[in-house]
Amino acid sequence: MTEASANLDRFNALAAQWDDSPLRAGIARAAAAAIANTLPLRTDMQALEYGCGTGLVSVLLADRLGRIVAADVAQQMLAVLEHKRLAAGLAHLETRRLDLTLDPLPAERFDLIFSSMTLHHIDDVPRLLGRLRDLLLPGGWLALVDLDREDGGFHGPDVPGVFHTGFERAQLMDTLTGLGLTAVSARTAHTVEKSSPASERRQFSIFLICAQRPM
Ligand SMILES: C[S@@+](CC[C@H](N)C(=O)[O-])C[C@H]1O[C@@H](n2cnc3c(N)ncnc32)[C@H](O)[C@@H]1O
Repeated sequence: MTEASANLDRFNALAAQWDDSPLRAGIARAAAAAIANTLPLRTDMQALEYGCGTGLVSVLLADRLGRIVAADVAQQMLAVLEHKRLAAGLAHLETRRLDLTLDPLPAERFDLIFSSMTLHHIDDVPRLLGRLRDLLLPGGWLALVDLDREDGGFHGPDVPGVFHTGFERAQLMDTLTGLGLTAVSARTAHTVEKSSPASERRQFSIFLICAQRPM
């Protein structure tokens, strides 16, 4: 089994209980608030959330955006979101199975692409970021929420499909600049407290990095 398929199996297995975690809900609330406070969101924006999981962030931002395509590789995650979407009457939110590490680019282009806690599960991040850039309309925004560099304690040693133990903000920002994006900025979105495998409480910092495709 490859790392990517073990990753997919893990997320499908976790889907039904995903929303029960206060830690995940807290990260999603912080991510949505940081995006809404940093970027000029509009109710006519076409948005893509990449790696949406059960849509914790998309649902929080739904009132602020015109349409959201909530995309993920794990069908069980999408099934949970589909249920929530129908229950909440979110007709402008669409769920879609999409793996941009393998699939062709969709035809649409977006005013906003956001992604929360997904990048560290992607092996070739610069390639994915290039593909996300290609999906942005001129003037469109990219918003990335993920872990700052850590020592592996956030997931512990036995979790498959963790390709990066967080990121150096400066390196990610350089990658975005190298891809031709502008207005690249970073801020701390959240700090979470979590037990390490050795069970002591630890703090992990989470960034929001934004960038814009030139007009
Ligand atoms: C840590 S979860 C975060 C989910 C959600 N953003 C949240 O905040 O609750 C990472 C998500 O990325 C998805 N994912 C992992 N690799 C992916 C890929 N190559 N393409 C699309 N989604 C992927 C997983 O299925 C999972 O739902």
